[in-house]
Amino acid sequence: MTTADRSYNFSAGPATIPLKVLQQIQQELLNFNGCGASIMEISHRSATFIEVLDSARAGIKQLLGISDSHEVLFLQGGSRLQFSMIPMNLLRTGEDRANYIVSGAWSQKAYDEALATGNIDLIWNGAKSNFTTLPTSADLSLSDNSAFLYYASNETIHGIQFHKPPEVNNTPLVCDASSDFLSRPIEMQCHGIVYACAQKNAGPSGVTIVLVRKDLLDRSSDDLPGYLNFKNHAEQKSMFNTPPTFGIYVIDLICKWLLNDMGGLSQTAEYNQGKANLIYDIIDECSEMYLGHAEREHRSKMNIAFNLPNEELTTKFIDQAGQQGLMSLKGHRSVGGIRASLYNAMPREGVLALRDFMKSFYTQNS
Ligand SMILES: Cc1ncc(COP(=O)(O)O)c(C=O)c1O
Repeated sequence: MTTADRSYNFSAGPATIPLKVLQQIQQELLNFNGCGASIMEISHRSATFIEVLDSARAGIKQLLGISDSHEVLFLQGGSRLQFSMIPMNLLRTGEDRANYIVSGAWSQKAYDEALATGNIDLIWNGAKSNFTTLPTSADLSLSDNSAFLYYASNETIHGIQFHKPPEVNNTPLVCDASSDFLSRPIEMQCHGIVYACAQKNAGPSGVTIVLVRKDLLDRSSDDLPGYLNFKNHAEQKSMFNTPPTFGIYVIDLICKWLLNDMGGLSQTAEYNQGKANLIYDIIDECSEMYLGHAEREHRSKMNIAFNLPNEELTTKFIDQAGQQGLMSLKGHRSVGGIRASLYNAMPREGVLALRDFMKSFYTQNS
């Protein structure tokens, strides 16, 4: 097996990991940092692991420019657990309400799940347009006693992305950033919580990063079950139970790669914009073949969702792309078509290969 045998992997997640990071994992797998064992085999309370945990936390803070405002938690249960854990922690009294924007499949699931936890008001729903568009600030009117406004910055299935956070008064925003976390800078001041499962841009599945503004931790009730209480995780520095050690180690390596090789999040965002443009340009040029899902101004730079004129061409596209080493391009089963996920670790060469394939597929089939 050589690196040349690897395909360009457009999977939406778990997704491609930087080659350099995979090689480093491979190199230190048997004996991490001279400790005589793999990172997976040592105690989470050992000095060796705590150094990794501290470094991963510091890496995320440095990348996002967080000083002391937010706790960085490494949790389990995926982003899905946050769908209920967040309202359970933030809605403290019977009067508190939460506002939700439903802009695609993931915020829809988050909203559905939150309904079981307290007073939840849906203030904008993109279902009518089949999740192709996003609200303006004029569309958003918050409830009295709104404890937070929930949104998903990037809808992984529908390929639609907020290019800046929704603008509301002082109500804290809660953001599901699962599929664009660490792909660009985030305005942290307006966010009470930003969370992301790791398996798109930040690492392997099994660990979820939750950034919680420190003053909001007081909202967590002592009546909550231990694992579901943010305060416990913050007080115990993500060691309330055994943390997902291997995942945290990979996050640490990816943060170092973003800082040292990519030059930080502004540069990473530019790189990602350039990659996304290559594919959207082809979609626009060959519009009889490729129909982009999202409205132009809301197009995601991470997940490009588009359709071909019929099922037959879609299957042919996926099969031929696979034969050329372009893997995992099938759209999500709920929307069909094609989805190309261009996360940080997808090199520009991979996107150029996809662009060239799309061009020749268009020429050969129209
Ligand atoms: C935007 C978004 N939110 C939530 C999730 C759910 O994450 P998990 O499977 O880690 O619970 C996903 C998974 O793809 C996602 O893309």
